[in-house]
Amino acid sequence: MILMKDILDEKDKRLHLKSKEVEFPLSKEDKQVIEDMIQYLHDSQVPELSEKYNLRPGMGMSAVQLGVLKRYFVVVNDITEEDAEKQEFETYVLINPRIISNSEEQIYVEEGEGCLSINRPVEGIIPRSARVTMEAYDMEGRKIHVRAREELSVCFQHELDHLNGILITDRIDPKNPYKGRENARGI
Ligand code: NI
Repeated sequence: MILMKDILDEKDKRLHLKSKEVEFPLSKEDKQVIEDMIQYLHDSQVPELSEKYNLRPGMGMSAVQLGVLKRYFVVVNDITEEDAEKQEFETYVLINPRIISNSEEQIYVEEGEGCLSINRPVEGIIPRSARVTMEAYDMEGRKIHVRAREELSVCFQHELDHLNGILITDRIDPKNPYKGRENARGI
């Protein structure tokens, strides 16, 4: 099980390295890392579990955040309807992902993007495409296309940045932390 101590902190230089393409079939180790990431993200969004294990809630995680410099990430999106009795999630595993199309429209997360590797408040916003289509491979090595919009689109772009060694702090200019806000829609 992954705990907070297992997630690299922003001071770790590995977070600024570019991760390498993955070859198929996936190794046992990579499958395990993926399963562990899914479990962390899921548990971190279930209040009782997040409290029990002291997990900071997160929606996405890239392998590099565990020190594995390979191009894959996992996203667990809470799609629970209002008034639902039980939480519901959809899970994405994207291996060797790339963006094949993106909207011109830009959005940004008003409260700022969170990152499991950055354990402090970061002032500023990051304009990102409101919609993206990613091409990637699933765990069996099949090519997949995934379309995302709004928060999920931001999350995919944030994780893809991780695979390229880019953190949110690299995207925000401290002298002008709200740069681009006038051309983007807040979400
Ligand atoms: Ni992050």
